[in-house]
Amino acid sequence: MNPFPSIEIFVPGRVCLFGEHSDWAGGHRRTNSAVAPGCVVITGTNQGMYARCKKNATNELLIRSALTDGSQTELYRMPMDLAVLQQEAAAGGFFSYAAGVAAYMLDFYGVEGLEIDNYKTTLPVKKGLSSSAAFCVLVARAFNQLYRLGLTTRAEIEAAYQGEIATPSRCGRMDQGCAYGQIPVMMSFDGDRISVQPLRPGGDFFLLVADLCGKKDTVRILSDLNAAYPFAKSASDRSVHECLGTDNLRYLQLARQALESGDAEELGALMTQAQHNFDAKLMPVCAELQSPRLHQVLSDPRVSDWVTGGKGVGSQGDGCVQFICRSPQARVALTAYLQQQYGMPCFDLDILRPVSIRKAVIPVAGLGSRMFPYTKGVPKTFLPVVTPEGVAKPVIQVIIEEALSAGVEEIALIIQPEDEGRFREYFNRDVHPAIIAKLPPALRKEAERLKDIGQRITYIPQVEAKGFGHAVLQAEAWVNKESFLVMLGDHLFRSDNERSVAAQVAGLFQDFGDCQSVVGIYQEQLNRVKHYGTVAGEWISEDTMQVGTLVEKPTEDQAQTYLAVEHHGRPTWYCVNGIYALRPEIFEVLRSQSASSGTEEVQLTTALETLMQREGLKGLVVKGRHFDTGIPAIYAETVANFNA
Ligand code: UTP
Repeated sequence: MNPFPSIEIFVPGRVCLFGEHSDWAGGHRRTNSAVAPGCVVITGTNQGMYARCKKNATNELLIRSALTDGSQTELYRMPMDLAVLQQEAAAGGFFSYAAGVAAYMLDFYGVEGLEIDNYKTTLPVKKGLSSSAAFCVLVARAFNQLYRLGLTTRAEIEAAYQGEIATPSRCGRMDQGCAYGQIPVMMSFDGDRISVQPLRPGGDFFLLVADLCGKKDTVRILSDLNAAYPFAKSASDRSVHECLGTDNLRYLQLARQALESGDAEELGALMTQAQHNFDAKLMPVCAELQSPRLHQVLSDPRVSDWVTGGKGVGSQGDGCVQFICRSPQARVALTAYLQQQYGMPCFDLDILRPVSIRKAVIPVAGLGSRMFPYTKGVPKTFLPVVTPEGVAKPVIQVIIEEALSAGVEEIALIIQPEDEGRFREYFNRDVHPAIIAKLPPALRKEAERLKDIGQRITYIPQVEAKGFGHAVLQAEAWVNKESFLVMLGDHLFRSDNERSVAAQVAGLFQDFGDCQSVVGIYQEQLNRVKHYGTVAGEWISEDTMQVGTLVEKPTEDQAQTYLAVEHHGRPTWYCVNGIYALRPEIFEVLRSQSASSGTEEVQLTTALETLMQREGLKGLVVKGRHFDTGIPAIYAETVANFNA
């Protein structure tokens, strides 16, 4: 049995939306600076490769790979020995990619053994979707995460590229862009230099990729087009340079604008124009680009009813075609038509506007027994603090302002039913004109701010104080299947920089395309972890942890034995800071936990543990401090330090 913990990795394939062939063309700037830089927009597919990965103690590379038909390859086993791996890569074959990347990682980073169980692959191979590059990225990322190398995505791309070109396969420099996940990125190529810029789509785009079921000879296409480089010797060579150079840069600028403004009509029209230009200027030098099946489908008048435009994929030829569909319904109709009329298998590809978190749930219905007897009269969330600006506010207002600073628009306060009047009195009742008259201008602004906050609040009762998780569950209908923020009703935050702590947590959630929930974490002393939810896991960057274990209020012994996380060679402990960016799937877990809880409290941490096992969970070490207000001695410290 391998005792090491395993991590989950998903790497999608990639589709080149615009700019195919300009990646290597831009590379010719090494020898001819008159060649224009290359530029492409690529995006990750919905399909990809799923794997469980772990270190091993035998210093071997062990790989099992799932094929698209659901079957599995034999277990491949190689010693982590540079010469052997290099030889294996050069020999070609199914596992040469993994050997190539492993050789690079060993050579540059001195890594040891690795096991990859690629248990599911939904990406078609050899269809211009870069399945080999996805596999190379998977291997590079597994080494990076398990050996905590702290490599950036850009460095993973380099490792994947170097690994792949150590094999007989010849890949382009854009293929590894799938490392950025399911978001569109613009990559530029200037000689050996590559720059990458993630794009933010301004709307949703519904693409359809269809397998033309034809033949294409990529080597032929590449060799015909490359013959025009590095120096154009004829009019047709100049046409090739123009098409992959200045024309391409012009289309790319326009495509970027269309993507960022959410204009599907324009994006489709640009695809069609780019294809016409490609045909006019490249087909004369490369007969393979006549691609009869591609052109038959592109000019089919029925197809134009459902799409705003389309073009070939990858190196072009009769591999795959891509369309921008007018709507998800149009895509369903087009899929049925292409399958019936041409027998072409199709798959969907969505480019979606990045999610932003619009809602926050703040439970403040607890009994507050540790702050008794104050809480006999007033909920503890009404305790006062003085802000760094020197204004006296109740804790709850400071927390709401923190949520709003992360872009949240609406707030649900989970309250004890009998407290509603008190909250309404504070947030929803106009300030008496006699008081307004006495206020200096800065505090008059505060009165307006309160009014704005009041309009954003919904009060949701928790009839029985059955725990923090139970309180969150009360907001299920209000959250309505969106991702959302949860904040403790008794913790305050001060960021170390211009980005608030809540904005940091929400930002990481969005950066990863909302595919995993995120908890804010901070380093805590071992003798204090018993008060808090404590996490352990693997670092995937300097401040981001792929959480593997989550324990609510562990004992010191438990924490010492199971929850120590190595940081710069020392054991350290990390606790949850009270800000969570959650996927709505948490509610299903909370509901089933609540149904079987009996008289026990329903804890969010327990539900998060289940969610972590199903979907993964990230922890972000926030840049900033937090202040507890729910324990008398610590509240006293908070009052003294919060505005310091
Ligand atoms: P705590 O764990 O601090 O519990 O709640 P508590 O009841 O407020 O305080 P003690 O432990 O009795 O002293 C964390 C947050 O969750 C809310 C609390 O109001 C606080 O903001 N909460 C807790 C609820 O809304 N409902 C609950 O049933 C429990």
